[in-house]
Amino acid sequence: MENKRIQIFDTTLRDGEQVPGCKLNTKEKIRIAKKLEDLGVDVIEAGFPTSSPGDYQSVQKICKSVSKTVVCALSRAVEKDIEIAGEALKYAKKPRIHTGIGTSYFHIVYKFKSTPDKIIERSINAVKYAKKFVEDVEFYAEDAGRTENDFLAKVCENVIKYGATVINIPDTTGYCLPEEYGEKIRFLKENVKGIHKITLSTHCHNDLGLATANSLSGIMNGAQQVECTINGIGERAGNTSLEEIVMIIKQNSHLNLFTNINTKLISSTSHLVSECTGMKVQANKAIVGVNAFSHSSGIHQDGVIKRRETYESINPEDVGINHSSIILTARSGRAALSYRYKKLGFVLRKSSLDLVYSIFLKYADEKKEITDTELKKILKIANLNTKILHANNSTNTNRRINVV
Ligand code: KIV
Ligand code: ZN
Repeated sequence: MENKRIQIFDTTLRDGEQVPGCKLNTKEKIRIAKKLEDLGVDVIEAGFPTSSPGDYQSVQKICKSVSKTVVCALSRAVEKDIEIAGEALKYAKKPRIHTGIGTSYFHIVYKFKSTPDKIIERSINAVKYAKKFVEDVEFYAEDAGRTENDFLAKVCENVIKYGATVINIPDTTGYCLPEEYGEKIRFLKENVKGIHKITLSTHCHNDLGLATANSLSGIMNGAQQVECTINGIGERAGNTSLEEIVMIIKQNSHLNLFTNINTKLISSTSHLVSECTGMKVQANKAIVGVNAFSHSSGIHQDGVIKRRETYESINPEDVGINHSSIILTARSGRAALSYRYKKLGFVLRKSSLDLVYSIFLKYADEKKEITDTELKKILKIANLNTKILHANNSTNTNRRINVV
């Protein structure tokens, strides 16, 4: 069976940037866009040009700054928005307009005070109008997660007829369960005339912590594109995180899927986005949190020191992190302590290790984490005799080893 390529549509600069406290200036957006191109994303959603002159300018400058990647601009199903998006994309080598409208009962009745037929008419008009500016038009059916499948299929069929090249099925409120979202995608694949001509896309929000699971279910049921953000930032609880979906695909070859992402750039891209947005990544965040490849309990540390895979299913080097970390806390054991001393150039004999470990435990009970400086202090307190050896090896000639 041939592996299927999943397109990665990054919306860090649009949905991600939309969140409170996360404002990026044009320079920062260009820096991130260039990094996303290096990372290998297929599409960069650069902004919502009609929202502000600053966003318009950023989209325009991003178009001039990237060359291989599709640059996409968001618009509502409103002619003026579409026109402005089209203008902002003027310099893009590969421009895409992303236009659409709410299709759920809440959106039709309360937001638009409209009817299903009028929503279909507006959807068609938006796609037709966007086609005047670009060939590549993505249509989003906002709140598709809560839209009845029959109506959603009708909307999709109509926008395909008028030239939509991609259809986005957003679970805007993070409402769906993975099985339900997967069934929705499958239903569209099986019931919409012309669906084989377009790319079907997932866009899942994380209100129940299911964004990544829902996106995965979407692609396992036939979607070919995933919309996601670096570090999972985005409206409310955020979007599907790029690093999670990409690594799930990479780690599970039996899915017969692949992406174009250079995973070794994941960690540095995460740092760049966090630095520019000022949004810290939670320590236990999958793949990019500081604790993702850190081990602090004695049992785990012993296992990892003996063989990394014992407690790590992902190789940190695959995401651009050089090594796993052994963090020294009061839960650490002798193996971890000895390992960290070795890294500092001290080989501890068995009797020395017992003494040093007892001093270490007293320190560690009072502190969150024991640093290298404190480890050296502990050695001084232990007052051990030191025998100095010199080792030669290919990478480190005449390295000093202290046997204590
Ligand atoms: O979540 C959503 O529905 C969106 C659309 C505007 C694509 O972000
Ligand atoms: Zn969204």
